[in-house]
Amino acid sequence: MKFDAPVSDLIRRRFSCRTYSPEPIGGNERNRLEDTIAAYACGPLGSPLRFHLIAATAEDNLSLRGLGTYGFIRGATGFLIGSAPRTGNYLEDFGYRMEQIILLAADLDLGTCWLGGTFTRSGFASKIPLGKGEVIPAVASIGHIADPEKARRGGIRRLAGSQRRLPWDRLFYQNAFGVPLTRETAGPYAEPLEMVRLAPSASNKQPWRILRAGNEWHFYLQRTPGYREGFFQRFLHLADLQRVDMGIAMCHFELAARELGLRGEWIAHEPAAGKPDSLTEYCITWSP
Ligand SMILES: Cc1cc2nc3c(=O)[nH]c(=O)nc-3n(C[C@H](O)[C@H](O)[C@H](O)COP(=O)(O)O)c2cc1C
Repeated sequence: MKFDAPVSDLIRRRFSCRTYSPEPIGGNERNRLEDTIAAYACGPLGSPLRFHLIAATAEDNLSLRGLGTYGFIRGATGFLIGSAPRTGNYLEDFGYRMEQIILLAADLDLGTCWLGGTFTRSGFASKIPLGKGEVIPAVASIGHIADPEKARRGGIRRLAGSQRRLPWDRLFYQNAFGVPLTRETAGPYAEPLEMVRLAPSASNKQPWRILRAGNEWHFYLQRTPGYREGFFQRFLHLADLQRVDMGIAMCHFELAARELGLRGEWIAHEPAAGKPDSLTEYCITWSP
């Protein structure tokens, strides 16, 4: 997919937009989104996926009827819904492709917000009838940002502080966990790694860890203790959202790397390096 703006700008610009203006998404934007969505029939790791845009138009805002969110989202004029059969790497694949659509929305100056828990599953399922074994891991609200100027100022503050993201030495390692990878040692990969650091994640838990060994980049999921077992999570039958977060991280890393001309592919190649604890799971490797 081609964006108009550099992907690193889009990643820096994106934020969780929770208040929208009532103006419907324009026809051109809807077409761009729909064309892209139609092309995403599977993820980078091979899971079949389906995405659907539900958007109010000037003539019809009934299309959003029944699509409830729990109070956090105000005035969204559209939703991105996706589904996948529950097998293999479906959650990582889903996260990757949904985030690509979200970055396209940022390119079109639209706001979005990932919604993993705070949406009414049944209402959304009625819009994208599910086959046997298929689930909707998450959805995203989409629409025009209510106050773009405020959003822009907020974005600058966020990036200047970056205080809501973990620092490099807690995320990226060289040869062994506990040995931080510096920006200097990361060389041209410093930017793809920074794009992972700025990625959105469920409850902003930032569970991605990356270990460089030789010329390979090994992605790990460091689970947040108790996160999956929480009452809210179990009560709402939430998907394993931290695996969706891994797919988002893969998306940011690969798109930023490709933009810099750094080629590679995703392979399963778990290194011998010891994992720091039982909460850390190997996920996937980027192999140049
Ligand atoms: C998989 C996933 C699920 C999320 N679910 C919700 C949600 O249910 N409700 C919500 O308000 N935000 C949700 N978020 C947004 C995160 O809270 C947000 O990305 C994070 O706090 C970082 O803030 P930022 O997106 O503004 O950079 C979700 C994000 C991800 C990646």
